[in-house]
Amino acid sequence: MLAGRNARCVAFMVLPFIECLLRYLYSPPRTALDASGLPPQKSNKSPQIPSLLAQLWETCKVSQNVEAIDPDLVGRATELAAAGAFLASVCTGTAGTLVVSGDPGVGKTALVQRACASLHSPAWVLAGACLPLASMTVPFLALRSAFRRAPQFDGVAYPTLRTAGEASHDVPGRIDDWLDELCLLRPVVLVIDDLQWADQSTLDVLMYLIAGPPERRLGIVATLRSGEVGEGHPLQRWLADIRRMPRIHWMALGPLDRLDTGAQVSHLLGAPPHQTLLQEIFTHTAGNAYLNRLLVSGIPPEARHLPPKLPLDLRAAVLA
Ligand SMILES: Nc1ncnc2c1ncn2[C@@H]1O[C@H](COP(=O)(O)OP(=O)(O)OP(=O)(O)O)[C@@H](O)[C@H]1O
Ligand SMILES: [Mg+2]
Repeated sequence: MLAGRNARCVAFMVLPFIECLLRYLYSPPRTALDASGLPPQKSNKSPQIPSLLAQLWETCKVSQNVEAIDPDLVGRATELAAAGAFLASVCTGTAGTLVVSGDPGVGKTALVQRACASLHSPAWVLAGACLPLASMTVPFLALRSAFRRAPQFDGVAYPTLRTAGEASHDVPGRIDDWLDELCLLRPVVLVIDDLQWADQSTLDVLMYLIAGPPERRLGIVATLRSGEVGEGHPLQRWLADIRRMPRIHWMALGPLDRLDTGAQVSHLLGAPPHQTLLQEIFTHTAGNAYLNRLLVSGIPPEARHLPPKLPLDLRAAVLA
């Protein structure tokens, strides 16, 4: 059993290099950007890799748990390049943290998902989201959902996050040790969505990880609704504290411009929008990707104007 465990660990360490080498040898020359101006999407499966190795690799690798990538993401070339550079530096051995902030619906989650899906080196992306629970606090909520997708194999034990009956200061150390081991095998990107709703225990663990060794291949990416962290919000202090820590990167995500709004609407309608319709949408949404999506739903592609009466819930969301 020990031999099997060792063999799998060795496979985890060696196969990425063999895969990279074979991808290099077998892949056609790449262009830096595709027609949309975005880096070409990385395919999980490469038909050029000899099938025996590909099968072996498939049995050992744990797929990135990036969910529901929006195939029609528009614009964001600069932000994707910046996020890609951050992730690349993580993969080459510099731990760091990226906080993506912006208005609700502006596209923070979509951007982070796309950036993680575009990673060029094999990495584990562990993604979890905080929730706006009102009547209770669930310790480590986002971390629990992120770690649920973690690779499970002998030798690198999944950390238990039980809190009852144990000193809570054990938990950050245990998570840190576990991530340390994972990072030796492959880069790890821990994505925490909607940090504004994080429970204190999640924030404490994140702080502990951020303060960890600089040279490990651990990236933390958090999204944050900036407008919701007002005076007295518990996160304010946490953000002020991490500002003083090294290797923290900030990205303030703005709305889409008119051109990119047009591209998003075009994708959603299945045809280029009439200019008057686009102008009305942009006037109402100011380029907020979520509001664009709400406004366009149910509109025929040939429409020249928004319907005179929007449903009430939509009016509340878009015209507020
Ligand atoms: N650049 C984009 N191009 C096309 N669609 C986009 C883009 N950015 C976001 N969207 C779409 O807009 C919607 C809102 O995006 P997203 O959930 O990423 O926003 P968010 O900033 O994370 O919002 P929240 O603060 O509510 O979490 C989603 O349906 C997403 O697919
Ligand atoms: Mg989001």
